[in-house]
Amino acid sequence: MAVIGIDKMSFFSPHQYIDMVDLANARNEEPDKYLIGIGETEQAVVPPTQDVVTMAANAADQLLTAEERAEIDTIIFATESGIDNSKSAAVYVQRLLGLNEYARTIEMKQACYAGTYGLMQARDYVALHPGSKVLVMASDIARYGLHTPGEVTQGAGAVAMLVTENPRILELNRDNQFMSRDVMDFWRPVYAEEALVDGKYSAEVYREFFRDLWSRYKEKTGRSINDFKAYAFHLPFTKMGLKALRDILPEADEAKQADLLNEFEASRVYNKRIGNLYTGSVYLSLYSLLANSEDLAAGDRLGIFSYGSGAEGEFYSAILQPNFRDGLIAGQMDALFEKREYLTIPAYEEVFMAGLHGSEDREFDISADPAKFVLAGLKDQQRQYVAH
Ligand code: HMG
Repeated sequence: MAVIGIDKMSFFSPHQYIDMVDLANARNEEPDKYLIGIGETEQAVVPPTQDVVTMAANAADQLLTAEERAEIDTIIFATESGIDNSKSAAVYVQRLLGLNEYARTIEMKQACYAGTYGLMQARDYVALHPGSKVLVMASDIARYGLHTPGEVTQGAGAVAMLVTENPRILELNRDNQFMSRDVMDFWRPVYAEEALVDGKYSAEVYREFFRDLWSRYKEKTGRSINDFKAYAFHLPFTKMGLKALRDILPEADEAKQADLLNEFEASRVYNKRIGNLYTGSVYLSLYSLLANSEDLAAGDRLGIFSYGSGAEGEFYSAILQPNFRDGLIAGQMDALFEKREYLTIPAYEEVFMAGLHGSEDREFDISADPAKFVLAGLKDQQRQYVAH
């Protein structure tokens, strides 16, 4: 059977951020609680001129050649911050990027997990339709509210991935282990803009799902921790992945433990500076691992753990392809971080309270947003997306 997987990947996050030391000071917390206890150093802030559609379009636009835009025949959009209860966000992106009209467009939701489902659908679709190309986007705004315990775990961004045969980056294996259970650890009723969360409980369920799926994976495949070069975890905050990894580390000898911890550090470099981005989080961690690890080589097996509250988890492995770094956009993340604008906490609070509330017509000042695709306002209850 043909090798199928992630051919290319790209990331976008808005142009403003806050520093977690500032946030800790403003919330009367010890900075080390946020920096070490939570494991976040900076957090992306979303201006009114960005939403899940523009973020995904900005990520995918950097990825696709003209030829690929014409060839893609399935566009999958994973999000839990959708802008419409009816229309899929994928259709907006199709138009903004000039993608093939003879394509299927669909939006998927299951908290932070939906991007993984999208990726597996893409893999299986390409397996049944040799030569086809699928665009998978995972775009979200993690929002808990000012002065809440979850505030330090906010963030935003979009990952775009192209799934094809003979991929440059990773082969997606067919060894997936998954589980679902009706759990109220985190949810957002349709009337709410901010998530409701039982924070400590959610972290326990995350770990329980990981341990359960890891055991099941070992049982079904006969593999052990020694077969894995590194893991990429869903990182709602980066300490969460560390806790999960520590749960299985005793299965390895000291040298292997040190290696895995080293790789884990590479896998959280970007997530520490962006924050949670729900559906895209585990794939930003994968991107971070690929870009920052110095020890990865073709043929290495990576373990990927995806978790979405509510709850659904999946663990699978993927094999690194030769020249896997060619599938990343060189210098993309450095440029993003270099150009980001620092916000004070009062300035962030103002941005946090602005945005697209209500149904009245309005226009946003798009001149301050350097992204190519922006949200210019609302007219006749239609979001006005422009490229500038
Ligand atoms: P909290 O209650 O403010 O924090 O909320 P804490 O008191 O538990 O402290 C956090 C850690 O900092 C602790 O470490 C402290 O010891 C440590 P731990 O015991 O956990 O290892 N600490 C310090 N460390 C160093 N120096 C210090 C210091 N002080 C304390 N001076 C909580 C934390 C995560 C609960 C909160 O931020 C929250 O509710 N976040 C949102 C929920 C969340 O992210 N859950 C994760 C699992 S669920 C998931 O991943 C799904 C999700 O992405 C949504 C989806 O699927 O759509 C959320």
